[in-house]
Amino acid sequence: MKKNIAIVCGGFSGEYDVSIESAKLVHKHLDAEKYEAYLVVIEPNDWFYKTADGKKINIDMQDFSLQLNTKKVLFDAVFNVIHGTPGEDGKLQSYFDIIGIPYTSSGVDSSSLTFNKFNCNAFVSSYGINRARSMSYVKGEKIDNDEIVKTLGLPLFIKPNRSGSSVGISKVKSVDEIADAVKKAFEADDRVLIEEFVDGREIACGILQRGSEIIVLPLTEIVSKNEFFDYEAKYTKGMADEICPAPNVPEEIEQDIKTFSAFLFHQMDCKGFVRFDYIFTDSDLYFLEVNTIPGISEASILPQMALEFGLSFKEFFNIVLGNIIKN
Ligand SMILES: Nc1ncnc2c1ncn2[C@@H]1O[C@H](COP(=O)(O)OP(=O)(O)O)[C@@H](O)[C@H]1O
Ligand SMILES: [Mg+2]
Repeated sequence: MKKNIAIVCGGFSGEYDVSIESAKLVHKHLDAEKYEAYLVVIEPNDWFYKTADGKKINIDMQDFSLQLNTKKVLFDAVFNVIHGTPGEDGKLQSYFDIIGIPYTSSGVDSSSLTFNKFNCNAFVSSYGINRARSMSYVKGEKIDNDEIVKTLGLPLFIKPNRSGSSVGISKVKSVDEIADAVKKAFEADDRVLIEEFVDGREIACGILQRGSEIIVLPLTEIVSKNEFFDYEAKYTKGMADEICPAPNVPEEIEQDIKTFSAFLFHQMDCKGFVRFDYIFTDSDLYFLEVNTIPGISEASILPQMALEFGLSFKEFFNIVLGNIIKN
């Protein structure tokens, strides 16, 4: 019997459209001999499946089931591709834990730790892994802009604590720009992070879990045509080069990136596939962030890494689902 898979997508954040694109790739390449796939869209007050003729059918939240004419569809597993809340921060994971449906992504604690950049940075630093120096403020706290510049220099990166796809992030080059950038970051979250600028090459490292095995995928270098890897550079064709395998990475840096990523995947109790991002300068390697629901549209970084490693999309998704359901 084929297993019913809900590809859960959408979500409540600025990454909604990106998530729909990720879901389409999974839907297209899921092994049709093993799985019956349904795209389920999660919006703040609407969880639904759309039939081929465009009819919206609501999910019964009691058991996450779907009534299709006379057939009740119960799901064997969830393929989670919601970037941002509630799919990447642990909220939805908590619901699926309660009703007992397995899912492809990291669990509640792991997601909530990694989605919170402030907490995640403290976690990573506790292992002695290098991080950009930073300051952090909650809404309402007094912010002394001169003090920030004195401590961290210029330029600065100002970002919401919990966000993604560079939504709400600014690169600030003068003290006068700080207030507006902080305001923008506070629109996305009630804590902001202010970081020193790390001037270097941006490298991503994908990790894929296959049962108890951790596969480290080939590294990718991200070269943005914009000032940094902002929303436009991420999602506009031609605005960034994502080169896999990353060329001319010093052997020692490559080893450190791969070792740290595998180590952190384990320590953070990540599941499925995860992307760790770093920046390396002439002298140092810096951990940037971890994405527990990385983009997996056709153009995204992680699927390209899997291809480079030698896995077709179908094989890749079979591994991911094989981790949580036995056929
Ligand atoms: N401290 C920093 N120094 C240099 N570039 C940075 C720094 N922080 C962020 N960036 C740039 O901004 C992008 C988005 O930041 P990131 O922390 O990864 O947020 P998001 O979760 O939105 O992707 C990075 O890919 C990088 O290009
Ligand atoms: Mg990022």
